[in-house]
Amino acid sequence: MHAVVTEVLAERAHLPGALLPVLHGVQDALGHIPRETVPEIARALNLSRAEVHGVITYYHHFREQPAGRHVLQVCRAESCRAMGGEALHAHARAKLRCSGTQHSSADGAYTVESVYCLGLCASSPAVVLDGRLHARMTPARLDALLAGKSES
Ligand code: FES
Repeated sequence: MHAVVTEVLAERAHLPGALLPVLHGVQDALGHIPRETVPEIARALNLSRAEVHGVITYYHHFREQPAGRHVLQVCRAESCRAMGGEALHAHARAKLRCSGTQHSSADGAYTVESVYCLGLCASSPAVVLDGRLHARMTPARLDALLAGKSES
């Protein structure tokens, strides 16, 4: 039993469609949804582990691994794609050394995630860095933005 999960379940398991509120609660508290918490969540909500795992992997918002110290989300939906979002995403992954299936750099400094529309389509392409929206992004502007982040 994970104390945080038990607490979140006590708060939210009674809600209609409780799985998503529970998963949000766990990720908000822990930064990700540890794999070992899936059985407890499934049992409490009378779901199979596969159902819980399926929802975690379906929604890009949910993480199974801890995020890096900085999180960069790059929009890959239609409008941003049309304005260079895919090249921006590739640039970010290469620059921050998040390659292959890895979303986070080996040093734990950065996580690069895909998101699908940030509501800034008129100012594409858009990214979110550590919770702050940035529009009309280019690789050069992204480099400048990242250079402004001090590493601990
Ligand atoms: S498609 Fe990227 S912000 Fe809407």
